[in-house]
Amino acid sequence: MSEAAPTAYDAVAYPSAIFSQTAPDRLAVIARLAGLSPPPITRARVLEIGGGDGMNLLALAAAWPEAHFTNFDLAPTAVARGERWRALAGIENAEMRVLDILTAAEHLDGPYDYIVAHGVYAWVPPAVREATMALIGKLLSPDGVAFVSYNAMPGGHIRLVLRDALLLQLEGLEGAERWQAARDYLTALAAEPEGRENPAQAALRDAAKHTLDKPWSVLCHDELGPFFHPQSLADVVSAAAANGLQFLGDADRERMGDAFLPDEVAAEADATRQLVRLLQARDFHDFRFFRQTLLVRDGVRPKRRIDLDALGTLYAVTRCHRDVEGMFRMNANVFEVQDAPLAEALGRLVDARPARIRVDELVDTPARKLALFEMFDAGLIDLCTTPAPYAAEVSERPRASPLIRAMLGEGLENICTLDHRLMTIPEFGPRHVLAHLDGTRDRAALAAVAREAGLDSDEALDKGLRTLVTEGLIAA
Ligand SMILES: C[S@@+](CC[C@H](N)C(=O)[O-])C[C@H]1O[C@@H](n2cnc3c(N)ncnc32)[C@H](O)[C@@H]1O
Repeated sequence: MSEAAPTAYDAVAYPSAIFSQTAPDRLAVIARLAGLSPPPITRARVLEIGGGDGMNLLALAAAWPEAHFTNFDLAPTAVARGERWRALAGIENAEMRVLDILTAAEHLDGPYDYIVAHGVYAWVPPAVREATMALIGKLLSPDGVAFVSYNAMPGGHIRLVLRDALLLQLEGLEGAERWQAARDYLTALAAEPEGRENPAQAALRDAAKHTLDKPWSVLCHDELGPFFHPQSLADVVSAAAANGLQFLGDADRERMGDAFLPDEVAAEADATRQLVRLLQARDFHDFRFFRQTLLVRDGVRPKRRIDLDALGTLYAVTRCHRDVEGMFRMNANVFEVQDAPLAEALGRLVDARPARIRVDELVDTPARKLALFEMFDAGLIDLCTTPAPYAAEVSERPRASPLIRAMLGEGLENICTLDHRLMTIPEFGPRHVLAHLDGTRDRAALAAVAREAGLDSDEALDKGLRTLVTEGLIAA
């Protein structure tokens, strides 16, 4: 780490977060489904551009010890925070660096197999935006996949109106007054109208509602920072093309089908151009305001239709539960799977959780494989390129990752799971047990630890350990 001037992100820290859609495995799955051969994630070199404190990559580094992760950011305080967690957890396969996108190419040794730029591209001045794409073009490996998220057009037009309106209200205000005035204004804008409203006002009200959910530490940077430049998909694709990159697809839930076309179009020589045109037209129609675009080098040839053989080799896992009478539940949503073999496959995944099962072993027909892809896109299952990097059973001497134990030691409520989620664990009991799972304690020693946390019976300990395993908190 080098000395660097403080930035707005040092004055108000951006919250630490984990973004499952940026995980190399998500990127690799979409590339594999497009018939490509992305580098194995187990040994990949991964770069995050403007990754703040790097929690996103630290969580991955804890799960994939043979891969290597580099996070860099301009804000020294954020990088120092990540570096502190890295050192506390003894993570050797990640580095946290203070670098400026404008000059980072001089300091980084590519190539990288997976490159992530989340929440950066549309929130920086034009020269930094251009440098971001140039950096990806320079550093992405031949079969690598990059992720770039941005506020998108045309929905960005509404966001720009909201931003201008907010900035007007906040003129001359500082600190807590600014935050309060922003909340008051957004609350008023988001309120149900008393009289008739025109469609543009309705859209603005909807945008205000969304924005009201954001904490100040996000709002003051995302909506109210000095740079706010929504991009159209077409512009991003042409900036990518200028740097030797092409559009692969989208990493968003319910958008992962974006990488594929109907059979008759997919075979055409200019399928990618047609696809981007189609998606851009859809963005106009849907008033899309955010995109998470995947890019690959222009030397590879994405197939533009789902490669069913590749789909068969992927692993599936679910966080669904069984509900009454053959129904399933995901969070509060109860649903039925009408096709009996497909319902049986989902049931197998529910019972095996958190273990992953190969798609080929779960279903037999192309239609059912495609149905599993639809479930993946809808967030009902996950598809992965490898078996789970965490334990599927409670072992003799269970071990939580050092990162999890370091985060508990720091008193953080949000803990990284080994399947790349942030999980809130406020209760003392599970935190206490988890903090002591260092792989040295057998059952009797753990029972003593559990008693300190008020878990007096063997059943309570069994249940607690089982839950920690199911949540992907225990190392393989
Ligand atoms: C909106 S935050 C997003 C942080 C993180 N990627 C996320 O999504 O939570 C934008 C980040 O980009 C970083 N950034 C802005 N300009 C930069 C530059 N020129 N070089 C490196 N990082 C930069 C900021 O310091 C900040 O951490």
